[in-house]
Amino acid sequence: MTMATAMVAAVLLLLTISPAAAAALSPHFHADSCPELESIVRTSVEAALEEEIALAAGLLRVFFHDCFPQGCDGSVFLTGRNSEQSLGPNLTLQPRALQLVDAIRAKAHAACGPTVSCADISALATRDAVVFSGGPNYTVPLGNLDSLTPASAKAVMTLPSPITSSVAALFEAFRTRGLVELTDLVALSGVHTVGRAGCRFFADRSAKQDDTFSKKLAANCSVEPDRLQNLDVITPDVFDNGYFKALMFNQGVFTSDMALVKDKDTAPIVKRFAGSKDKFFKQFVKSMEKLVNAPRPDGNVGEIRRSCSSPNGDDGEKEDFAVASA
Ligand SMILES: *[C@@H]1O[C@H](CO)[C@@H](O)[C@H](O)[C@H]1NC(C)=O
Ligand SMILES: *[C@@H]1O[C@H](CO)[C@@H](O)[C@H](O)[C@H]1NC(C)=O
Ligand SMILES: *[C@@H]1O[C@H](CO)[C@@H](O)[C@H](O)[C@H]1NC(C)=O
Repeated sequence: MTMATAMVAAVLLLLTISPAAAAALSPHFHADSCPELESIVRTSVEAALEEEIALAAGLLRVFFHDCFPQGCDGSVFLTGRNSEQSLGPNLTLQPRALQLVDAIRAKAHAACGPTVSCADISALATRDAVVFSGGPNYTVPLGNLDSLTPASAKAVMTLPSPITSSVAALFEAFRTRGLVELTDLVALSGVHTVGRAGCRFFADRSAKQDDTFSKKLAANCSVEPDRLQNLDVITPDVFDNGYFKALMFNQGVFTSDMALVKDKDTAPIVKRFAGSKDKFFKQFVKSMEKLVNAPRPDGNVGEIRRSCSSPNGDDGEKEDFAVASA
C-alpha cells in the first residue's frame, strides 16, 4: 500500500466511524441541522390528531414499546421476521401511529436531508401528542440513532402485560429501565388516560364479573366483541387525571390498572394523583424524562434510517433478522 492509498484508507475509516461516534444527546441536537424540525413534527401531529384523537394513545404505545426493551432506538419500527412487530405485543401497536412517524420522518428528511432518526421523530411526536391532548410538556433529548436490528424477543417479552396483577412484577419491569421509584410506575400508567383496548386484553377481568364494572365490561363485550373500551372512562380523549379518579371507583379496565389501587404501597399514589392533576403532571414529567433516557445497552450506535421500517442496507426485500441472542 502506498502512502497515498494508506491515507485515503485512513480517511475513509474515519468517515465510516464518525456516524457511530454519536455526539451527546441534547434537546437542541438538530437546532442547526434542521431548525424546522420541531414545527414540522408539531403541525403534522396536530393535523393527524384533529382527524383521529386515538392516535395520541397510538403514539404513546409505540414509544413505550420502543423505549422499554433496549432504549429509545427506533427498533420497534422495523418489520419482518424476528422484528419486534412480529412478536406478541405487536398486536396492540396501531399501524396508523407507526405510519405517522414514518410520514413525519419523510417530511423532515425532505426539508433537512436525512439528519433526523425515526427514534427522535417518535420521541418528539409522542411529546406533542401528549401536549395536544391536554397533557404537560417535557424535555426530549435528541440525537438518538436508529438501531440496526430489533431488540431480542426476551427483551420485548419483559414489557409489562395488562393481565399482571402484582405491583411487584410491574415494578420489576420498570425498575430495570431506570424507572426506579414506585411513583414512576403509577405516573406512567397514567398514559391510560387516553388509552383504548380490545376486549381480549381485559378478558381476565371481565370474566370474573366480581363487581358492577367488570359485569358492565363483560356485557359490552358480549354485545360487541370488536369494540374498543376506553381505559379512562371519565374523560377518555383528554390527557388528565380522569384515569386515576376512575381507579378510585374501582373502574380500572386492566388487571394491571386495578393492581395499582389494590396494592398498599401504590394506592396512596393513585389517590394523590386522583386528587390533583397538577401533582400527576409534575410526576409524569419527571418519569417521562427518565423513560426518554432509558438505557441503551450497546450505547447510541446505529444510523439515520431512510425508512423507519427497514435498515438502510436493505435491498427492498422483506428483512429477515437473525434471532438476537441477548
Ligand atoms: C403480529 O405478529 C404476528 C406473528 O408474526 C402476525 O401474525 C400478525 O399479523 C402481526 N400483527 C400485526 C398487527 O402486525
Ligand atoms: C415543549 O417544550 C419545548 C422546550 O423544551 C419547546 O421547544 C416546545 O415548543 C414545547 N411544546 C409545546 C407544544 O409547547
Ligand atoms: C359500555 O358501553 C357503553 C355504551 O356504549 C359505554 O358508555 C360504556 O363506557 C361502556 N363500558 C363500560 C364499562 O361501561
